[in-house]
Amino acid sequence: MCGIIGYVGHRSASKILTDGLKCLEYRGYDSVGIAVLNGQNLEIRKDKGMVADVSSGSRFDSLSGSIGIGHSRWATHGGVSKENSHPHSDCTGSIAIIHNGVIENYQELKSSLLSKGHKFASQTDSEVVSHLFEENLKQFPTPLIAFSKTISALEGSYAIVLLSKSSPDVLFLARKNSPLVVGKGAGENFCASDFSALLTYTREFLVLEDSQIATIDRDSIALYDLLLTPKTPSFLTIDWDVQTAERSGHPHFMIKEILEQPDVVSAAFSADVSQVLPLLEKFEKIHIIASGTSYHAGLLFSILLNKYKSGKFANVFIASEYQNQVLPDSNALIFAISQSGETADVLQALRYSTSPHKVCITNTQGSSITRLCSHSIYLNAGPESSVAATKTFLAQLCVIYKLLFGDRYRDSIRSTILASTKHSAKIQEFSKSIITNRFIFFLSRGLCLPLGFEGSLKLKEISYLHSQAYPAGELKHGTLSLIEKGVCALFLAPKTPDATKLFGNLKEVKARGGTIFTLTDDPSFKSESDMSLDIVPQTDPLLYPFSFVVPLQLLAYYSSVSLGINPDRPRNLAKSVTVE
Ligand code: AGP
Repeated sequence: MCGIIGYVGHRSASKILTDGLKCLEYRGYDSVGIAVLNGQNLEIRKDKGMVADVSSGSRFDSLSGSIGIGHSRWATHGGVSKENSHPHSDCTGSIAIIHNGVIENYQELKSSLLSKGHKFASQTDSEVVSHLFEENLKQFPTPLIAFSKTISALEGSYAIVLLSKSSPDVLFLARKNSPLVVGKGAGENFCASDFSALLTYTREFLVLEDSQIATIDRDSIALYDLLLTPKTPSFLTIDWDVQTAERSGHPHFMIKEILEQPDVVSAAFSADVSQVLPLLEKFEKIHIIASGTSYHAGLLFSILLNKYKSGKFANVFIASEYQNQVLPDSNALIFAISQSGETADVLQALRYSTSPHKVCITNTQGSSITRLCSHSIYLNAGPESSVAATKTFLAQLCVIYKLLFGDRYRDSIRSTILASTKHSAKIQEFSKSIITNRFIFFLSRGLCLPLGFEGSLKLKEISYLHSQAYPAGELKHGTLSLIEKGVCALFLAPKTPDATKLFGNLKEVKARGGTIFTLTDDPSFKSESDMSLDIVPQTDPLLYPFSFVVPLQLLAYYSSVSLGINPDRPRNLAKSVTVE
């Protein structure tokens, strides 16, 4: 969702802000803007649209100055328009702010500011911040105190960066429930909503914690709590390199990230799970919390725990429903799975849980989820820029298998993934038939059930085709009424003991005129299919889920590309979903 970038130093701020906004594009946005301060000249340029168009149309490059802030907005309060784009200013044009999150008490603050004569230029919740700071500057002796008073008055979630003529060399930062990092340079400093925007400049980062304030100028970084008690900043080094964050000759990030998955297996299996294994041994009751693709990894985790680890009672929860479905339970071991570590639904579920034992499985060091958990397991998958999760999903599965079975299956999994990446051309061809259908069911059973859900989500997410996943045996309890000529069902059909039942489900669809597609290593499925891809290597039944990971990702990718959609940036979606 919204992206933040800030710079103070000796170089042209507008160039660094524009480049940073390009790096943040993957988060999803609908408008962009920057503010640059040059002495006492504060200029804001912004509009709805993409970074390339707005930055050239509004001549970002013509702004001179070496301190500034930039923002990409994903609309929540107020429509997609130039006025609602960030940065926002005050009544005098002396202040510029950018904000991610939601100011929940903005209406109350706005009414009070309106009664004092403030004029608002947008419908956003964010604009109250600049006017409140303007008001506080009149009352408090220093800009820093005025900033802390402003932040203390806010309820909700925020990552805020403020630039003011009153302190022309300083950026003011604050964070609560929305990520914000400071990047440390030499004679220059940076801030951003995530590391990836700053990897060209620095690897040394300070991750702001909730209810912290920071100021950065070109030579120093100061950290405070809300009462302005100084805190000692502790920096972490991020070892992601810029190249892994670039497309490296591929047409899209998504295909690059799909194809680098053989290496992801090795990296994910190197995850340190030693602190977590004793907990997994000890606890009977396990709650797994996640959203979207991560939920599908969690679903497989829960099936494996219940079926293959005796004495375990695992439940998987869609994060946004966790609070609605259980009472807080301090006797449960919690696993929270989130590649970004910033998914608001997951964070809220973790705050609700009273368990002292919370383990996160995440790809992002220093992310909010790590602060809410007693233990963190890192996926080591490197930066994932495409909105569609691919390699982080595989890495989640690898970490789950490592937790349950150690390194026993690592090499077989790697071989399966490597073999699957070689089937691109066949899947591209297959996708041409898939996209001619108006409705596609993904049907599967057993351990491959989560893969059916994931394949369907990936397809609809980036190709906008209507698709739905079902446990194949459930179809006859209602959904079978939708099957008729022209409706397509894609079966994930590994040669397992469950295959006979799945075969029966296939016959049910076929008898009603449905078009049958299969991904299978089983000849009987092949002969009953309208179209079949024999790209599923025979393997240990426990490992069949891995046989479908790459084919389903490639199927979604090529469907999207054939339909003329940019798979990296599906409409309406964001990489890091920081609102509930
Ligand atoms: C996956 O392709 C989606 N973009 C989405 O479902 C995603 O997995 C979900 O938003 C959860 O994200 P997280 O893993 O960062 O928590």
